[in-house]
Amino acid sequence: MRRISVPYFPRPLQKQFHDRATRFSVAVCHRRFGKTVMAVNELLRRLLTNDLPRPQGAYIAPTYGQAKRIAWSYCREFSGAIPGANFNETELRVDLPGDKRIWLLGAENPDRLRGLYLDYVVMDEYADINPRLFPEIIRPALAERNGGAFWIGTPRGYNHFWEMFDAAKRSYEAGKPDWYVCTFKASETGLIPDNELVAAAQSMSTEQYKQEFECSFNAAISGSYYGRLVTDAERDGRICVLPWEPVRPVHTAWDLGISDSTAIWFFQEADVARNYIDYYEAAGEGLLHFAKGLSGKPYVYGEHFLPHDVRVRELGSGKSRMEILGELGIRCRVTPRLSVQDGIEASRVLLRTCVFDAEKTGPGLDALRQYRRLFDPARRHFSDKPLHDWTSHAADAFRISATAETDIGRPNLRKVAKTGRTETGEHAIVDEYEIFD
Ligand SMILES: Nc1ncnc2c1ncn2[C@@H]1O[C@H](COP(=O)(O)OP(=O)(O)O)[C@@H](O)[C@H]1O
Ligand SMILES: [Mg+2]
Repeated sequence: MRRISVPYFPRPLQKQFHDRATRFSVAVCHRRFGKTVMAVNELLRRLLTNDLPRPQGAYIAPTYGQAKRIAWSYCREFSGAIPGANFNETELRVDLPGDKRIWLLGAENPDRLRGLYLDYVVMDEYADINPRLFPEIIRPALAERNGGAFWIGTPRGYNHFWEMFDAAKRSYEAGKPDWYVCTFKASETGLIPDNELVAAAQSMSTEQYKQEFECSFNAAISGSYYGRLVTDAERDGRICVLPWEPVRPVHTAWDLGISDSTAIWFFQEADVARNYIDYYEAAGEGLLHFAKGLSGKPYVYGEHFLPHDVRVRELGSGKSRMEILGELGIRCRVTPRLSVQDGIEASRVLLRTCVFDAEKTGPGLDALRQYRRLFDPARRHFSDKPLHDWTSHAADAFRISATAETDIGRPNLRKVAKTGRTETGEHAIVDEYEIFD
């Protein structure tokens, strides 16, 4: 037997994790615990000790940029000493002797993962990863070879990371041998010097500090636009079983992605409030896919609301997406041009009264809860701009719905002017609105 040594000296708590980790593990850790170092080394160990033919592992960060910037250098550092290790930087792939492979990926383009089998997967900063990734893509990839998974991150409210942690904890406490969970708080690990913790506490709110350093899931999501409003909707019973009404038309509101996800909200105007009855999102699909998706549902459609970029002509076909959708039987209504800020404000007003079907709009609601401002670390405050991540598509489509004027009008938008504007060479009349409560 050949001995392979990796230049990694786990800290005592990291060692404790490696010794105890099972097929499925969840670790909730404070900021700068050494999560990524630990995760990369666990993955490496799993592959090196795997005796199946051609084992494959994946390290997944919330974005490709994060995987490349942070995990790739750790991968190089720790597997660089393995004789025969080969690094393919353009594909962010490490090939180890014995036909073993590690892929580094960003969760924002999960399509690279489709069809891959995996023996072990690490999801780093899982609270920031699209919740659909695991059930839709990772779990099927693990099934073929009884692969294992490791979820690791810092809390970000009661989201899918909490759900994963909570479910895993129950399995672990019930003595199920496949499961292991652990929590590492800064006050207990002693890894961060006291003066740094004091400085951190001064630079953020108590809630935020508890979240980042004391692993509290309880803290409100920092910088969230709609988190509290969705919580209020839940408290008021407005997230519920909501049957659609066949005698009323169903309207849709879209966010169009080209290489990104396209998101669609389905809603009806009911007597008392607007009802959001369904939600659909998919990445890497053409317009035909969405047109088919719409006609596959039992609804009778009213209007289809789309943002103004639907008028832009595409380079290849010379047709606009509006024309293509029209040919597919979807007549678009372009919503008024509003700034992102105003659109968010209109969404907030709407969120105080609208009702959601808990199950069918679940994935959209998850995203609305977590849609948040971009944090500017240099100036230590949240900027006016939203963070672009997996939550953006649902939030943008919701914003389109909030500015959509249906047959009964939008109660919170008042038309103030009509202005002529030139868009893509044609003269368009655009209605201008202001928002009121
Ligand atoms: N076992 C270790 N030995 C030495 N340095 C470590 C070890 N684990 C982590 N570090 C260092 O601690 C810092 C934080 O590690 P990292 O894994 O990036 O933290 P996190 O992902 O939790 O923010 C990095 O500078 C890293 O090199
Ligand atoms: Mg990290």
